[in-house]
Amino acid sequence: MKLGRLNHIGVATPDLDASIAFYRDVMGANDITEPFVLESQKVRVCFVNTPGENGTAGTQVELLQPTEADSAVGKWLAKNPLGGQHHICFEVPDIHVAREEFLALGKQVLGEPRIGAHGTLIFFVHPKDMGGMLTEIMETPKAGAAH
Ligand code: CO
Repeated sequence: MKLGRLNHIGVATPDLDASIAFYRDVMGANDITEPFVLESQKVRVCFVNTPGENGTAGTQVELLQPTEADSAVGKWLAKNPLGGQHHICFEVPDIHVAREEFLALGKQVLGEPRIGAHGTLIFFVHPKDMGGMLTEIMETPKAGAAH
């Protein structure tokens, strides 16, 4: 495994608009993307961009509101009604290599690599094999790609 940048922390919320207002008004975020629906995951998503050093992009908070109760995030929210940290996402240089490495270590990889909310290939690893954290592995976006 070649650990890359901590790309984002996924935070589930029962009310995306209220969470956006929270990050803007309480936390002082001034760079929050327009929400959009990611149909494949049945979520409405937006990103809170935190500043990095010297004007570079920092780590994001990915806000997720389920569009259907019968979805992965919907079921998680039923158990955690306030919302909260849902997953953590690290970048890797090559998604397919990373997947093979996790499988070789006996980790439970959840599904095939697929396009995630950032438009790049991702997969998830089960929290039972990751110290209790649902972990998203994302191929590092190519230079110049939107994220
Ligand atoms: Co994510």
